Amino acid sequence: MTRRPIIAANWKMHHDHLVAIQVVQKLSYRLERDDYEACDVVICAPFTDLRTLQTLTEADRIPILLGAQNCHWQDRGAFTGEVSPVMLAKLNIRYVIVGHSERRQLFDETDDMVNRKAKAVLHHEMTPIVCVGETLEERDRGDTETRVTDQIAAAFAGIRGADAERCVVAYEPIWAIGTGRNATPDDANATIATIRAALRRLVSDAADDIRIQYGGSVKPGNIAELMRMSDIDGALVGGASLDPDEFARIVQYRR
Ligand code: PGA
Repeated sequence: MTRRPIIAANWKMHHDHLVAIQVVQKLSYRLERDDYEACDVVICAPFTDLRTLQTLTEADRIPILLGAQNCHWQDRGAFTGEVSPVMLAKLNIRYVIVGHSERRQLFDETDDMVNRKAKAVLHHEMTPIVCVGETLEERDRGDTETRVTDQIAAAFAGIRGADAERCVVAYEPIWAIGTGRNATPDDANATIATIRAALRRLVSDAADDIRIQYGGSVKPGNIAELMRMSDIDGALVGGASLDPDEFARIVQYRR
C-alpha cells in the first residue's frame, strides 16, 4: 500500500494576510514540480489569510493546497464569531484541522465537537485533519494507547467507509508541541501503528489507506528520519512552517 505523503503547515495565529502572501510566494520559488508530485503540500492559515491565498495560488497556479485551522459544524446560524464549513468550501479550502490539542485544551473543544466538525467538513467535500495525542501525564502513566484509541473512536463516531478513508489523522503528542522535544521516530511510529490498528478495528477495513501524520517539533533536521518510518505518512508542522526556507526544506525531505 502506498499512501501519498502530506506535509502540512499549521501557522496557528501567525502571519497576517500581507505576510502570508510573501511567505507563500517565497515558498513557491523554492519548491519545484517534483516536490508537488511527491507529496501534498498544505498551508493551514488563519481565516483572514485564506481568501488572499486562494487568489494568489489560483492566479499564479501555485499547487499549494489550502487548509483552515478550525470551523463550526453548522452551515449557518446565530453563532457569533464562528466560521462555517460552507464558507471554507467556497474558497476552495481542501483541508480543515479539527480537534487540535490547543483547541481542546485552551478552548474546551470536546470529543463530541470534534466529531461534529469532522462530519461537517466531510459533508462539504473537504478533508478533516483529525488531531489526537496524549498529555505528558497520560504518557507517564502509560495511558498513551488508551488515550489515542478513545480519541479516534470518538472523532470517527458515525464516520465509516469511503468518508473515513478520505480523512487524515495527525498524531501530535501534546508534550512535543512547540517544546523542541519530539517523540523518537520509533516511538511515534509505534503509536501511529496503534492508531491505525484502532482505525481498522473501529472504523474501516481499509485503514491502510488512511494517511496519518506525525506532529510536534518537526524540523528540517528530523523530518527525513520520521518519514522513513513505515506508518508515518506526513507531518503537521507548527513553528518550523512559519519560515518559508525551513518549511521548503521539510517538504524536500527526500533530497
Ligand atoms: P510544532 O507544532 O511543530 O510547533 O511543535 C505542531 C502543531 O501544533 O501542529
